[in-house]
Amino acid sequence: VITKVKARQILDSRGVPTVEVDLYTNKGMFRASAPSGDASGMYEAVELRDGDKGMYLGNSVNRAVKNVNEKISEALIGMDPTLQSQIDQAMIDLDKTEKKGELGANAILAVSIAACKAGAAEKEVPLYKHIAVLSGRTNLTLPVPAFTVISGGKHAGNNLAIQEIMILPIGAIKFEEALQMGSETYHHLKAVISEKYGAQGCNVGEDGGFAPNISRQVSLFVKEGLDLVKEAISRTGYNDRIKIAIDAAATDFCMGTKYDLDFKSPNKSGQNFKSGEDMIDTYKELCTDYSIVSIEDPFDKEDWEHIKHFSSLGLCQVVGDDLLMSNPKRIERAIKESTCNALLLKINQIGTVTEAIEVVKLAKDAHWGVVTSHRCGETEDSFIADLSVGLATGQIKAGAPCRGERLAKYNQLLRIEEELGDHAVYAGEDWRQ
Ligand code: PGA
Ligand code: ZN
Repeated sequence: VITKVKARQILDSRGVPTVEVDLYTNKGMFRASAPSGDASGMYEAVELRDGDKGMYLGNSVNRAVKNVNEKISEALIGMDPTLQSQIDQAMIDLDKTEKKGELGANAILAVSIAACKAGAAEKEVPLYKHIAVLSGRTNLTLPVPAFTVISGGKHAGNNLAIQEIMILPIGAIKFEEALQMGSETYHHLKAVISEKYGAQGCNVGEDGGFAPNISRQVSLFVKEGLDLVKEAISRTGYNDRIKIAIDAAATDFCMGTKYDLDFKSPNKSGQNFKSGEDMIDTYKELCTDYSIVSIEDPFDKEDWEHIKHFSSLGLCQVVGDDLLMSNPKRIERAIKESTCNALLLKINQIGTVTEAIEVVKLAKDAHWGVVTSHRCGETEDSFIADLSVGLATGQIKAGAPCRGERLAKYNQLLRIEEELGDHAVYAGEDWRQ
């Protein structure tokens, strides 16, 4: 049984406070922490911050920590850690609000993950296996990693409007090879960028992708960045075994009904504004010229119409991140209206392990793809690696194949694959199923 729950404030990879929880049972101590991203508001679970400008610029999480140490702890002590849904429900009931704003989703999620780890230990099974059982499935799959290799958007200080260019080693035979392919491409890319922009071009963004100052010319859009990645892939010789994907995160450069590809420039001229229709043409071109296999948030989060139109063309996987905010109501609407065809799963936007399992089920029942995702503010917690295997999501996005908080996830997948031995299945070509 759960004997003690203790929280503390730690810092995430951006140096911003977040919640860490130590949950104790007769089997030992189980630690987990909540990731954090740029809040997109409204539909996602509430990250409770103190708002005291004199402390961490208003970002401290002492109230969330206190909620764990006093209220949540009292409610959970004595509970069986294998009963994940009951534990999560107890916290939801205690919170009483729709978006977990009373206790804080950062408090609730850290406890939920720690309980999940304790539940696995209680059953004496690996975490990914415990998660698989909780979700009612038996097949375990090592996901295809989507490595961020070029960063832009709000995650970097360069001109690039879109947030990420990613590479997917779909043609690898196992995860270990996928990681090798990703790492080699990343290092070739560093050389390609250095030759063209000098060493300064190799500075990195929040997720570890390089952030060269590519041209602001509208006709080039993201092409200059994609050419760099293509060149790096060709230097590795992996060619078609590695596919390219992007996260446009277009909500961040949508101004009214237009898309501003020069949104980070202080002296913009307005000539770089594009309509939704222009953007569709641009994406079409990218899919043809660069064999892009997946585009995340190609339009603003409320521009359901253009996302639907683009998805209907069937050119690539269309992932809803800001569009869906991992919110079941928005996912249900998107399924009903055929708005997109893949879910980006951010566990802190939903707030508990049980609810994360439920939204993945929703997406899978609709034959969508599922991408288990990190946040820009990460910790050394590797939970999402086990989650992606246990839920067989087929895809994981955890940033570049460098930097500790990103590698915590990828390295854990190496360990899981090793442990599964002959039973390990790499999603590979079946990444969307
Ligand atoms: P975020 O970025 O954590 O800043 O939301 C991740 C993503 O957009 O996929
Ligand atoms: Zn995104």
